[in-house]
Amino acid sequence: MSTFWSWWIIGLTVTNLLLILWVLLANRKVAVRDDVDPENRTTGHVYDGIEEYDNPLPKWWFYMFMGSIVFTVLYLIIYPGLGNWKGYFPFYEEGHWTSVRQLEEQQKRALAQHETSYGIYSTMSVEELAEDSRAMKMASRVYANNCAVCHGADAGGALGFPNLTDNDWLYGGTPENIKYTLVNGRNAAMPAWSGVLGEKGINTVTQYVLSLSGAEHNVDLVEEGQKIYAANCAACHGGDAKGNYAMGAPNLTDDIWLYEGTPAGIRQSLRQGRNGVMPAQQNRLREDKIHLLTAYVYSLSLE
Ligand code: HEC
Ligand code: HEC
Repeated sequence: MSTFWSWWIIGLTVTNLLLILWVLLANRKVAVRDDVDPENRTTGHVYDGIEEYDNPLPKWWFYMFMGSIVFTVLYLIIYPGLGNWKGYFPFYEEGHWTSVRQLEEQQKRALAQHETSYGIYSTMSVEELAEDSRAMKMASRVYANNCAVCHGADAGGALGFPNLTDNDWLYGGTPENIKYTLVNGRNAAMPAWSGVLGEKGINTVTQYVLSLSGAEHNVDLVEEGQKIYAANCAACHGGDAKGNYAMGAPNLTDDIWLYEGTPAGIRQSLRQGRNGVMPAQQNRLREDKIHLLTAYVYSLSLE
């Protein structure tokens, strides 16, 4: 702040304070007038027959005002309020208070608290944590803040976002698998097939995929579909179509679908391919939070 504005603010503030002080002191006593009965002195204003006594401020009120002025003066000495005056607070390192330093100290305290609460959990294994109801309660809040937008508040998933409460995994459900998913994220790569198989081929292999989970399908196309599957799909989804954790290729033999499991939905998955993205958390969340979340996800499918 330039010197001019600094003095401008100081001038305004001090002038105002002095004015208030003057008004307060000037009204302490009521001028004595001969023509008025001192016991029944009114201001002379009449409103609907109601008159107003001309009395000074009650004492307690006066002292309250004086007290607030004393407070103001002390405040303006201790804290920065008068232009460039930084305030004088001997208990602070540099002799004065700043909002930045207050924030830093609060953050330091919050961090220390954070470390004691998460610190214990970092030393526990995922399996132990999953059984610890206090830890899981804390984890559920971290989950709600960071994961619920995609996986749902109940972790039940949605179209394209896997259910985390079942035992069906794209990338594996061991603590190591889950932690890897959280730390590094996952990027599924199911290629698009319309160019390779054409609409006819897509429909044929769709009938085979439907047959794998016992859904209604065209029996005549299954044999042909199986051939297409073996040539194009088995590398990722496995010869038995049970999926592959390393690729994130889903198990096609169960009735759990990441995308729609209807004939139209499966054809759509095949036509355009699917590329689900689980965002990496390593630059978003601290390691101890990821550890806690790993245990949380692990605990969801324990029952
Ligand atoms: C390069 C590996 C790869 C190949 C080859 C591949 N897939 Fe996939 N497939 C995946 C991955 C990975 C996903 C999961 C996509 C995602 O999570 O977004 C997937 C998803 C699917 C889905 C959706 C499953 C669901 O739960 O909604 C179907 C159906 C499917 N694949 C069928 C096939 C068929 C049929 C073929 C052969 C024509 C095939 N895939 C070839 C990797 C592959
Ligand atoms: C922007 C949306 C999004 C957010 C946020 C998100 N995820 Fe995911 N997550 C996904 C998608 C999409 C997949 C599936 C990736 C695929 O298709 O292969 C996934 C996959 C996963 C998997 C693998 C599941 C399996 O079957 O192997 C786990 C575990 C997981 N997420 C946990 C979490 C946790 C815990 C958080 C919170 C830190 C989180 N996710 C935040 C979108 C999200």
